Amino acid sequence: MKIIAYGIRDDEMPYLKQWSKDKGIEVKAVADLLDESTVDQAKGYDGAVVYQQKPYTAEVLDKLASFGIKSLSLRNVGVDNIDADAIKRNGIKVTNVPAYSPNAIAELTATQLMRLLRRTNTFDRKIAHGDLRWAPDIADELDQMTVGVIATGRIGRKAINIYRGFGAKIVAYDIYHNPELEKEGIYVDTLDELYAQADVISLHSPATKENEHMLDDDAFNKMKDGVYILNPARGALIDTDALIRALDSGKVAGAALDVYEDEVGIFNTDFGSFDAIPDERLKNLIKRENVLVTPHIAFYTKTAAKNMVQFALNSNVNLIEKGSDDSEVKF
Ligand code: COI
Repeated sequence: MKIIAYGIRDDEMPYLKQWSKDKGIEVKAVADLLDESTVDQAKGYDGAVVYQQKPYTAEVLDKLASFGIKSLSLRNVGVDNIDADAIKRNGIKVTNVPAYSPNAIAELTATQLMRLLRRTNTFDRKIAHGDLRWAPDIADELDQMTVGVIATGRIGRKAINIYRGFGAKIVAYDIYHNPELEKEGIYVDTLDELYAQADVISLHSPATKENEHMLDDDAFNKMKDGVYILNPARGALIDTDALIRALDSGKVAGAALDVYEDEVGIFNTDFGSFDAIPDERLKNLIKRENVLVTPHIAFYTKTAAKNMVQFALNSNVNLIEKGSDDSEVKF
């Protein structure tokens, strides 16, 4: 059996090599992402392990299938960049890694919330200019606040535990209710109820056609004045122009964004200078003291990287050998 792994970073190599040695299975590591220009390298392999935020196009998926590759294992959780029709048409089986480290995402989200509440970005900038005064940057305390958690999957639940550690009250919205949380009575029936109660909104939902731009002008208008927005999930959940309007008006007091709707090709790229970043809206956000932008790094921990590589390779072997895996994604 031979597997090809695309988009392998240097920090993933030790985990890949260790897995290959332990299992005695050949894995070819390719630094490039899987696209029209690299797909031919997959010829002769039994399965492909991939990770990327740019689209897996119909052309690429058709080609993989024409090489006999019907086992595709993603090293990440999100599947919103895959052409579902091409997957079904070609009978390709896809797995993801649904829980490489929910903690990694929840920890960054909470870190950024605390930075927003304690105005650390503002103090960092003031100190850099020799201004060590306190006022007017007085903080809010999470202990006194209600956090509205949208989606209570593994990551949302980890985030809830962390917020609770700080003493926050939690309200949650999800179409699927977690039985434990249900017993605690934290679910509200509608997003409008969550918007009306939450001082902080923490997004943990996958991106679907239905929830694109769920935070739009209408949603922001229903929120409390001075709400904080946290998005470590998917950029498409927020209408960026509406967020900018809500920040300008003061409706939103601060935002922590680890994702951005136009991030593909921008995040995880070195442009050499701030001015060279080719996205004016993103620069508008980054310049604000009350907006914390990080380039999709919530997942980027050693634990997550190891699990992403090794879980995805294990799943790929199961697909190749048995035609099924517990992490199979249904399209
Ligand atoms: C995911 O797992 O879907 C992520 O968003 C993390 C990143 C590897 C893209």
